[in-house]
Amino acid sequence: MSGSPTIEQAVRVLRSGGLVAFPTETVYGLGADAGQSSAVQRIFRVKRRPTSHPLIVHVSGKERLAELAVEVPDIAWRLANQFWPGPLTLVVRRGPAISLEVTGGQETVALRVPNHPLALELLSAFGAGIVAPSANRFGRISPTCAAHVQRDLGNEVDCVLDGGDCNVGVESTIVDVTRGAPIVLRPGGIGLEALEDVVGKPLRVEDASSVRAPGQPASHYAPRATVQLVSRSELNERLEALYRQGARVGVMTTSEVGLKNAYATVRLSDEPAGFARSLYAGLRELDDRKVDVVLVVPPDERGVGLAVIDRLRRAAAPRQGAADEGADDDELE
Ligand code: TXA
Ligand code: MG
Repeated sequence: MSGSPTIEQAVRVLRSGGLVAFPTETVYGLGADAGQSSAVQRIFRVKRRPTSHPLIVHVSGKERLAELAVEVPDIAWRLANQFWPGPLTLVVRRGPAISLEVTGGQETVALRVPNHPLALELLSAFGAGIVAPSANRFGRISPTCAAHVQRDLGNEVDCVLDGGDCNVGVESTIVDVTRGAPIVLRPGGIGLEALEDVVGKPLRVEDASSVRAPGQPASHYAPRATVQLVSRSELNERLEALYRQGARVGVMTTSEVGLKNAYATVRLSDEPAGFARSLYAGLRELDDRKVDVVLVVPPDERGVGLAVIDRLRRAAAPRQGAADEGADDDELE
């Protein structure tokens, strides 16, 4: 499809079983009609994602919670009232309208109302749930602008809606409300503090990968370069040591320390929210510059900072298989 597609065109693509990439406030999603089995299967194929790894169903408003889920607890409504539309995904009990294909065979479903005008327009015009994983290949860095999507998935997507740069920059916070007290399965755009204000007590944070997708390696959100987290005080020493070994070192930092032997530098905001907004584009930029190692001084844990640290730890985790230069996008998992 050439030119910038309209919402009506995008809706037609979805109805005919096609794939539409669209902006959300977190990252770009790769959307398909949640009610069409062949379209859902295509998502897994294009992303090269295991079919046991469940998808988030995006909906136009919180009233859909009652239609698509059953036994919705009061706390789910309170969280939805507070944070939807917004970067919160709720894991609730699946109603009959949601297929097991979407949920990876589980009796729960992840629902979210994204806070982006184009996404909301698309969802309202489509009038039903849209499954949308991040529009990148499995295990790689999520896209935060339309150009990233074009580059990663190109011809395999039928339509790309361009809504500019994503405002949040990391994925939604996933909260499971099916097991008593809410449990955070993935830190994201909504910080723990804000959730705890609504829930009224400290929340448990559980690593989703260990519970929901057994065997999934820790490595995720990975650039081609190796990622190392360092404190501000260690940065220079680590940089010099790598430089002496002949490595091309990319540095992501908020500070102004002398970095004369850095091959490339990405400066990020001191504020966790600003850091999050530029995180994925920064990692992509350093990959484009073909650095061997990325040294990152992480932001503090406040708000979305926790999600940034989580993604950086996953990007830094040991990888399965070789991350050869020039390898395909799906090499890591
Ligand atoms: O911000 C976001 O959430 C973005 C945008 C596009 O909305 N989407 C996104 O989707 O990050 P994806 O597919 O990349 O990540 C979905 C996550 C996975 O970790 C998956 O395991 C988890 O949601 N998930 C989905 N359904 C679940 C369920 N029923 N129970 C537990 N986790 C679930
Ligand atoms: Mg993803």
